[in-house]
Formats: sequence, C-alpha cells, structure tokens
Amino acid sequence: MKLIFLGPPGAGKGTQAERIAERYEIAHISTGDMLRGEIRNATPLGAAAKAYLDRGELVPDSVIIDMVKDRIQREDSKYGFLLDGFPRTVVQAEALAGFTDIDFAVNIDVPFERLVARISGRRMCPDCGAAYHVSTYTAATCSKCGAALYQRDDDKEETVANRLKVYTEKTAPLIAYYENKGKLFTVNGDADIDAVTNEIVKGLDA
Ligand code: AP5
Ligand code: MG
Repeated sequence: MKLIFLGPPGAGKGTQAERIAERYEIAHISTGDMLRGEIRNATPLGAAAKAYLDRGELVPDSVIIDMVKDRIQREDSKYGFLLDGFPRTVVQAEALAGFTDIDFAVNIDVPFERLVARISGRRMCPDCGAAYHVSTYTAATCSKCGAALYQRDDDKEETVANRLKVYTEKTAPLIAYYENKGKLFTVNGDADIDAVTNEIVKGLDA
C-alpha cells in the first residue's frame, strides 16, 4: 500500500501516520521529520533547509524530490509507505507520479480555527517523532522511547500563520489534483484521535 497524507499544519498527519503505518506495516516517511533530523545532525542539507523551516516556507522542490526518491528505495519501503508531508506542491506530485504509483491520498480535513491551538500545545519527541499535546499529556519525556520532549521552532504564532498561508497557496490545490485522479479520500480530522484513525482504517479497508 502506498499512501499520501494531505492536510494543513496541525491537522494530525503525523499522529495518524504513526498509527496507520504500524497497522499496515508500511514505512512512515515524514519529510518534516527528515528535515528536522538533518538540521539536528548539522548536515549540509540541514544547513540549507533551516532558513526555510524557520520562516514557514517550503524547501525547494528539487531538494525534497531527491530526498523522497532516495528514501522510498530503502528496504523498509518495499511493502509500501505512507508519505506524511509530501507532496506539497503540484511540481512534487508530478515528480512523484514519475517514479511511483500511489494508491490513495487521504485528506485530513480540519477547520483552520482549530489548528493554532493544536500546534501551539504540541510537544514533539526528537528521536521517534511522536507528537503529544499539553492538554492530554503532561510528562516531559516521550512515553514510547523516553527522550525529552521539545517544542518545534516553527510552532511560534507568526511562523504558523505563514505555514497556513503557504498551505493554502501551494498545497491545498493537491486536493483537487488527487480528486481528479480518483485517488482522494477525505476524513473529518475534527474529531478525537481514535475516531479519525477508525475513519481512515474503514476507508482503506473498503
Ligand atoms: P511538517 O513537519 O510536515 O509540518 P506541517 O505540515 O506544518 O504539519 P505538522 O507536523 O505541523 O502537523 P501534523 O498534521 O503532522 O499534526 P500533528 O499530528 O503533529 O513540515 C515542516 C516544514 O518542513 C515545512 O514548513 C517546510 O518548511 C518543510 N517541508 C516538509 N515537507 C516539505 C515538502 N514536501 N516540501 C517542501 N518543504 C517541506 O498534530 C498536531 C497537534 O495536534 C499535536 O499536538 C497532536 O497531539 C494534536 N492532535 C492531533 N490529532 C488531534 C485530534 N484529532 N484532536 C485533537 N488534537 C489532535
Ligand atoms: Mg507532522
């Protein structure tokens, strides 16, 4: 199974991707987590990407396309993968279509007014990428791997506003793009986490 998760920042792509990838035993590929890993490891790619992430802008298409193309060739992607945060532009979607076929694009739909509260209360695990929310999880360390949780640099209010603008301009057109290909399925992301997972599973199993 080859899936794409679409949705605005804070929609729950990462939260749901972790569960769905585990359930179907496919690789969870988050381009945001990969870029944050490059920044943490101070690689040349990380150094080049940092300014874009800090401003809430997209990293250039060519960089991301090469990164994903390499990533899906790894052994763990052999039985399928879930792309979380890619593609984010029509150019990326066209490039993806040139190197693999995807089965479904799952669009996690959440009203914009909910997103800021979700993002500002988010705490992330630097090691396994798990996301928590301060309203439901108050420990300082990850329940899965024990690492100290942190708040993402791009989760500041000004940056979030720009990320939402960039989403609207550059990524939202992918909803129509995948709908026209007959591959889109939309779930209501404005429900509790388990309910969203159930709706995705029901759709995929059907
Ligand atoms: P990326 O890391 O992909 O960030 P994003 O798209 O802005 O999405 P988020 O990770 O913020 O949200 P999410 O949907 O994963 O929500 P989450 O599950 O964490 O990208 C970061 C940057 O990298 C980009 O700005 C860009 O610079 C660069 N980049 C990445 N990919 C790129 C690409 N393809 N091209 C170019 N540049 C790229 O949930 C959010 C919070 O809500 C959490 O606290 C969670 O606990 C909570 N929550 C989740 N679900 C629910 C629910 N149902 N109810 C209540 N709370 C919930
Ligand atoms: Mg995410």
